[in-house]
Amino acid sequence: MEFTVNLGKRSYPILLENGSAEKLPDELKKLFPKSRFALVTNTTIAGLYRELIAGWKPALDAVVYEMPDGEEYKTIGTWNGILDFLLASKLERSSIVIALGGGVVGDVAGFAAATFLRGVGVVQVPTTLLAMVDSSVGGKTAVDHPLGKNLIGAFHQPKMVLVDNAFLATLPQREFMSGYAELFKYAFIGGREMFDFVRSNHALMEKKDPAVLLAGISRSIAVKAGVVEQDEHETGGLRALLNFGHTFAHALERYFDFKEVLHGEAVWWGMHCAISCAALNGMLTDETAELYGGMRKLMPDPRLPERPAVRRLYDMMFTDKKVTGGALRLVLPTEPGTAVVRGDVPAETVLASIEEVLG
Ligand code: NAD
Ligand code: GLY
Repeated sequence: MEFTVNLGKRSYPILLENGSAEKLPDELKKLFPKSRFALVTNTTIAGLYRELIAGWKPALDAVVYEMPDGEEYKTIGTWNGILDFLLASKLERSSIVIALGGGVVGDVAGFAAATFLRGVGVVQVPTTLLAMVDSSVGGKTAVDHPLGKNLIGAFHQPKMVLVDNAFLATLPQREFMSGYAELFKYAFIGGREMFDFVRSNHALMEKKDPAVLLAGISRSIAVKAGVVEQDEHETGGLRALLNFGHTFAHALERYFDFKEVLHGEAVWWGMHCAISCAALNGMLTDETAELYGGMRKLMPDPRLPERPAVRRLYDMMFTDKKVTGGALRLVLPTEPGTAVVRGDVPAETVLASIEEVLG
């Protein structure tokens, strides 16, 4: 399966196929016959996929950089290390960086590609479900700063994305479920058809049925690509929809110091706060509220270290990038598959929704 993200001169193909990683060298040589290649991955993935990488290396004459594993390494220091390596390897403007990994590798390698020699191409090869359905597509690249996540970065669209769901076989279950929450998110923003698809295929996707899961990944990417095509640089408001549940989720991650709750776990809680908030704000018909209540029952709630203090969590929501003029802007559902951005929800309604879901 193949489709294109249409962004004029920055358009790129997305290849999705179980087992497609084997074909990466052929695809790359077809698209970039004169380029040199640098593969950036992390130590965990390098260990798990040693044979695959050993096959790619001579086929592409690629140099390989292994960064340490973990969000705590998504830093300027790691970015600098990658740039030192690209310079020492004498890569050129026509070179291509291949980011093999989850969102951390994708974001930091993407940012290195965005800045090396004022920008070289990057090819994203996502290995987590979260990276497949979200971070590998859309061109956001970044590193973290002690003052906050993703504060230093650039928009830098990939030249190609290759999605091979065979990588998911080695992904720890907790990471799988965290990524699955992001796939689930598209049910609430991707239109009625996506809502119905997720609702009826949830059981098979959760069991990792390869064909159904690939269909879910493909539909998720199509939703994301559609949004990115219309609002590439997040200036038109539409791209904010991708952050459904995220204002609550980011606060929850911060509340637990970014250590004990995975991003997708926080997004799961955040989506249900957003649904509750819309219901309390009178935005859902009884029928929609019931349908959404049914969605919550499909998955077990992820564990939290403790019940968060509602007011403290609410206050933490104000560090969100969508806060404008001191007001929260929340992505809230309206009808199945559709959400809108609202900046006028009373504080007591937001507090009540947190209390209802998490209190
Ligand atoms: P991650 O990259 O840290 O990967 C999670 C863990 O799984 C890591 O330990 C990793 O080594 C391991 N792993 C990866 N693939 C594996 C595989 N196939 N088998 C076994 N282990 C594997 O986390 P993530 O959830 O993929 O990404 C989170 C990051 O993505 C955050 O930094 C977030 O800010 C970023 N993000 C970016 C965007 C964007 O649009 N650029 C969107 C969402 C999230
Ligand atoms: N993950 C949100 C975005 O790409 O805009």
